[in-house]
Amino acid sequence: MALWSGRFTENVSEFTQRFGASLPVDKALYAQDIAGSKAHAAMLGSAGVIAQADADAIVGGLERVQERIEAGKFAFDINDEDIHMSVERALIADVGDAGARLHTGRSRNDQVATDTRLFAKQRCEDLMAANVALRQALVKQAEEHPDVIMPGYTHLQHAQPVLFAHHMLAYVWMLARDFERLAAARRAADASPLGAAALAGTTYPLDRQMTAASLGFSRVIPNSLDAVSDRDFLLDLSYACSVSCMHLSRLCEEIVLWSTAEFDFIELSDAFSTGSSIMPQKKNPDFAELIRGKTGRVVGDLVALLVTMKALPLAYNKDLQEDKEGAIDAAKTLEDCLVCAAGMIETMAVKPESMRAQAKKGYLAATDVADYLAKKGMPFRRAHEVVGHLVLLCEQRGCDLDDLALADFQAESDLFEADITSALDLDAIVAARTTEGGTGHAAVAEQLALAKQVLAADEAAL
Ligand code: ARG
Repeated sequence: MALWSGRFTENVSEFTQRFGASLPVDKALYAQDIAGSKAHAAMLGSAGVIAQADADAIVGGLERVQERIEAGKFAFDINDEDIHMSVERALIADVGDAGARLHTGRSRNDQVATDTRLFAKQRCEDLMAANVALRQALVKQAEEHPDVIMPGYTHLQHAQPVLFAHHMLAYVWMLARDFERLAAARRAADASPLGAAALAGTTYPLDRQMTAASLGFSRVIPNSLDAVSDRDFLLDLSYACSVSCMHLSRLCEEIVLWSTAEFDFIELSDAFSTGSSIMPQKKNPDFAELIRGKTGRVVGDLVALLVTMKALPLAYNKDLQEDKEGAIDAAKTLEDCLVCAAGMIETMAVKPESMRAQAKKGYLAATDVADYLAKKGMPFRRAHEVVGHLVLLCEQRGCDLDDLALADFQAESDLFEADITSALDLDAIVAARTTEGGTGHAAVAEQLALAKQVLAADEAAL
């Protein structure tokens, strides 16, 4: 029989017992559940709600339950609906009446919200650490290749040359924002619902500040109805996971493209590649593809929780039991993806010659040639047209802009002089982009220093 079975004369069927149970999912929260119960028991003892000896017996008993779970010696029973019931039943079996006093002034409604918030805080911290490790790998690649030039793209068409380091750092900034989102999700979770009881608070003189402080919460949730029904913190975590996974999917899509014979910009290490069961020559970027693919389930976890929350009346509803599985999955999936991506980026070999060879194709100097004319006084829109004609000429001849003779340039405009070569040279084109945040070597060096500063601050905040 369930611990709440006093007013019942019939048991639920085995099927409905399983259908209603959350134990297979929430047993992952055993440590948080035990921590919450220890804090509640200690507070009950100190407030004189239960005898200090009973509080001490409860705390000792909970520690033994935790040891048994961690030693794999705890027999989880599906007749227990959830981890809260499992732990409480085991506690009562161990310490008897004292254990039966633990649930005084508490409901599973504030208990589960407390456990889930503690869990969410921890997972945010784990993810923030994994985020830092991936950023370190990207920064390392940027630092190791300060002069490597690659084509920059818009519409996946060659656009303007950029530094490979600049491209890597773009992902570092995405991840820096992901870190902020995870930190915000952590702050959202960092409030104690304990003491809200079922929905309305209790008649016992509970010290909510005391349990909040002993569990490491920075504040108490001011409204008992809100305390037991709010799952915004899990939405925040799932959203942070979704955006971060989406960023990883973009990075991985580029890794997949760059690994093709067509691009040939990088080679993944064997440790992050797989072969084919039929084609002996194959080296597939499976893990990059898998990260790209896993983004779907993480976004699915977010959407599932949003829809579960929609139109729920106050306060606790059993629908809320559906909150944990997706959030746990989103956090675990993102963590795995971050760890995998860090190893993959850290060990990938960059191919500067292939990148440069591609950067020579597709008239990447065109904007700079137009800028050359504009700087000599021609209105930019007119200069754009002149260079368009030159590109057309190259297309007809099957050559690139730097294959044209000075006379070809001068046939389009008499503003062209011998120094036009400076607008055609890849290294000069890149170096000339001196704007703050631009791809010029000096600007990228400054950006790298800033990215490292933010990274160091984030690492120190872990
Ligand atoms: N297993 C439940 C959950 O995860 C715990 C809270 C149940 N409360 C209740 N009154 N049925 O949400």
